[in-house]
Amino acid sequence: MRILVVGGGGREHALCWKLASSPLCEALFCAPGNAGIAAEATCVPVAATDLDGIVALAKRERIDFVVVGPEDPLCLGMVDQLEAEGIRAFGPSKAAAELEGSKGFMKDLARKIGIPTAAYRRFADIERARAYVRGQNAPVVVKADGLAAGKGVVVAATAGEALAAIEEIMAKRRYGAAGAEVVIEEFLEGEEASLFALCDGKTALLLGVAQDHKRAFDDDKGPNTGGMGAYAPAPILDDAGARRAMQVFVEPVLKAMAEAGRPFTGILFVGLMVGKAGPKLLEYNVRFGDPECEVLMRRLRSDLLPALIAARDGELDQVDLRWETDPALVVVMAAKGYPDAPEKGSEIGNLDAAAAVPGVVVFHAGTKAEGDRVLANGGRVLAVSALGRDIEEARERAYRAADLIDWPQGFYRRDIAARALRR
Ligand code: AMP
Ligand code: GLY
Repeated sequence: MRILVVGGGGREHALCWKLASSPLCEALFCAPGNAGIAAEATCVPVAATDLDGIVALAKRERIDFVVVGPEDPLCLGMVDQLEAEGIRAFGPSKAAAELEGSKGFMKDLARKIGIPTAAYRRFADIERARAYVRGQNAPVVVKADGLAAGKGVVVAATAGEALAAIEEIMAKRRYGAAGAEVVIEEFLEGEEASLFALCDGKTALLLGVAQDHKRAFDDDKGPNTGGMGAYAPAPILDDAGARRAMQVFVEPVLKAMAEAGRPFTGILFVGLMVGKAGPKLLEYNVRFGDPECEVLMRRLRSDLLPALIAARDGELDQVDLRWETDPALVVVMAAKGYPDAPEKGSEIGNLDAAAAVPGVVVFHAGTKAEGDRVLANGGRVLAVSALGRDIEEARERAYRAADLIDWPQGFYRRDIAARALRR
């Protein structure tokens, strides 16, 4: 089969790395890809959000199957457009991607079918949003309704902060049309976990539970990021807890989406807050997490490609996936200044020495090649992953590899998996 992966981050590198190992994969393309992905796939400079460009590329290269990584093209309807052109594609339709594309849609659905989640209100009117916040006890959480690259959420410690967030989102339109509405919700306490399920519209297969690290610096300090590291499995939700979570947070939503005429095919990423009263839903995303995908792919022993095809074809009940017993951990190396103003263009050295550490695979998240040199070309730049007998060993290996990389303009957290180790 001729396969095309859409995207160019660490998630897509992990997907390409895994798909390239499939005996079914005869040719692998990635758009736009990055310097690391180029080792696995032919990279083509078409933006992930360029729907017409991706369709044209898929036709030109006679692609049999497209795997869409990020949420933006999914929410724009890339899978619908590819399928309409007769090109098979993995991922949710535009209508199903609303689960991530509109937080208001997601919350209304969760409430309707009784999924445990934070109490909330939706507002399209800024005056009403302001008045509501003044009547609430802080902390409250203010969220832009639409996609905002993971930045449209403010956990406001005071009413003043919540009002400022409403101002930024609704009045200043910092995230554009995504801020036409806000969701204001109850603050949930606990520890976060990300659960991933592969879905074919009716059947869901558990892919695992990972824990991300959202803040930029150690001890969960600093600004929110796309994720600075992850590990799986995450002991916060053991196997029995994950199976229960599938029944509470995944199966009912698949049923409801099918009934609403928006059957969900693709990866359902369930963001959970695990508190004293058990897990509650923070959000659904409609794609793999990044860097969670990196640890899931390191642990997957089975061939990924037939599983994705079965999901696309509605035949997941035929699929059984096997996993490594060893845990996996990933440390993200970001460019100084990330997430606000990462510096681009610095050179990264000694990547081969890092990759030679036992159990380590270095994924590229934001790099570009210039001759033989590898340059930083994004906020999150590398995702250094490792398998190990236990979390300690995976962590020791990942940090040994990260420490070998010669990149003074980068930084990384030193405490990935500290919560798991404290348990
Ligand atoms: P989201 O994009 O909805 O996952 O929100 C981004 C981050 O904000 C989450 O990963 C949480 O750390 C935090 N967050 C979102 N909603 C809540 C909530 N209701 N209570 C506490 N923290 C939240
Ligand atoms: N790492 C969180 C996300 O991909 O949204």
